[in-house]
Amino acid sequence: MTRRPDGIRGTTITGTGMYVPERVLTNHDLEKLVETSDDWIVERTGIRERRIAAADQASSDMALIASRRALEMANVDAKDIDHIVLATTTPDRILPSCACTVQQKLGATNAAAYDMFAACTGFVFGMGLARGLVGAGVADTVLVIGVETLSRIVDYTDRNTCVLFGDGAGAAVLQACDAGIGVHAVDMHSDGELGEVLEVPAGISRNPASDRTVAAHEHYIRMQGKKLFPFAVRSMSDSTRRCAEASGWSADEIDLFIPHQANLRIIEGVRERLGVAEDKVYVNIDRYGNTSSASIPIALDECVRSGRLKPGDKLAMAAFGGGATWGATAMTWTIPQQRPAASSGRNASVREAVS
Ligand code: ACO
Repeated sequence: MTRRPDGIRGTTITGTGMYVPERVLTNHDLEKLVETSDDWIVERTGIRERRIAAADQASSDMALIASRRALEMANVDAKDIDHIVLATTTPDRILPSCACTVQQKLGATNAAAYDMFAACTGFVFGMGLARGLVGAGVADTVLVIGVETLSRIVDYTDRNTCVLFGDGAGAAVLQACDAGIGVHAVDMHSDGELGEVLEVPAGISRNPASDRTVAAHEHYIRMQGKKLFPFAVRSMSDSTRRCAEASGWSADEIDLFIPHQANLRIIEGVRERLGVAEDKVYVNIDRYGNTSSASIPIALDECVRSGRLKPGDKLAMAAFGGGATWGATAMTWTIPQQRPAASSGRNASVREAVS
């Protein structure tokens, strides 16, 4: 748990952006692939459809569009970015980093660029890192990206996992601000004891790719969903409460809560445990499924561009993911309220959020 020490600079979000691919994979489409049903998926997860990247789209392509939208909102030139922190589980390649590929495509020639592997908590961890860099004066402008092409590591013969995940990207620009506003607290945790609960067993140094690993489906996500469920509810609610308290708020004072979109029942469990009203919790899992590190920045951008956030609002965001990792952040919003008409950056087919 880190709190802003006296004397260091405040840090805030000055721009957001998101992108999801055009192709929609519905629950009914999945009924043709595995033994499942729309009713089961909606009732157990809240998911109705998810987006799937085109064959020629990789994570850096989606990250680029989300980043350009965030930079445009922040009115920042790519050459003024000092650091690019890209959170992902699905980089284009393991070498070079996805962040370096995005840096090159953006023309962010003055930025240090690197990937962060913290699964679904990656964007929250990225915000923690960005706040440290900006707060300490090491950087003036940090671009934090969450992007996933999970469809490339999902086993579409495994009904336990294939119904859950989707593709997409979100980004935020973080810059210095006055004390007392912007990011107040970031809470970050990991527990490697839970590593086996969510894993991709093969592909890198422990279990390199071979004909055997391909035949055994070891390059795909394996998950013990039942073990993750209670951990997710407990970790996200406790972390959010710690951030609210560090900001001088009670949890029920939060104006907008953006939880990682993993399962609607998990979101509901967190909401109940925190005592936050239903209309303060943002939900878009029905449209995108679980996009891991992209889920919070996608949701945040939808909130910003639909005018849901105004300066002074108390915003909390929380995530959990493989590793295990978990964390939250609390901030006082600073970007002027957007008119919904300014939502031209969103995909035409994206519906208004469910809340
Ligand atoms: N369609 C139909 N039946 C299914 C499906 C499916 N898609 N998937 C599982 N089932 C079956 C199971 O086989 C089981 O059958 P059985 O009783 O005959 O064995 C039955 O449904 C119940 O399965 P449970 O695992 O008990 O179902 P549960 O209510 O726990 O829901 C789920 C499963 C949705 C995975 C839930 O546990 C969950 O969401 N857990 C958290 C997962 C998560 O968030 N993972 C990602 C976190 S990190 C990250 O985001 C990368």
